[in-house]
Amino acid sequence: MGAQVHGAQGFDAGKRSKIAFSEDAMNTVKKIMSRYPEGRTKSALIPVLHVAQAEFGGWLSPEVMDYVASVLKIEPIEVFEVASFYTMFNLKPVGKVVIEVCQTSSCWLNGAEDIVKYIEKKLNIKVGETSADGMFTLKVAECLGSCGTAPMLQAGASFHENLTYEKVDKILADYKADGRLRSYTDKDYKNTL
Ligand code: FES
Repeated sequence: MGAQVHGAQGFDAGKRSKIAFSEDAMNTVKKIMSRYPEGRTKSALIPVLHVAQAEFGGWLSPEVMDYVASVLKIEPIEVFEVASFYTMFNLKPVGKVVIEVCQTSSCWLNGAEDIVKYIEKKLNIKVGETSADGMFTLKVAECLGSCGTAPMLQAGASFHENLTYEKVDKILADYKADGRLRSYTDKDYKNTL
């Protein structure tokens, strides 16, 4: 697991008067931006949005998107256009762990639908909703590239494969016990973004 610079305790706008990256996250952002020529900072937008989403509680509020625009020196609408296009970016508050169950062919044939129903019942939510304790948001996803180990789900940067109801019980219990916000940038983000 990489350093937890990205809002590992969750982002509380009420506790932070001004939206700003932590020093560590800003260093990551600068490193990403340095890959592109002067005047082409928009090219860094997607990886920077991943850093922002992890830093500010797992979702991109309008204020956070405006902040990202100011950092990259681009227009806020350019940030919104990209953030609203990709399902990996959340534009509403989510739980600390976003569970994405693959529902495409191989997973579907191997019981993804039943896994989704099981999680819905267990967390007392429907797809798209967040559990009452704020811990989990349930989503479905298209093929996540792990078809040989279907059915599977993604939570942050982690894949959980060959799912059974027992495995799902353990996965949810482990995340709950851990209690931290999970993001796509969790694992070695400094090397992979
Ligand atoms: S069909 Fe689920 S990972 Fe490809």
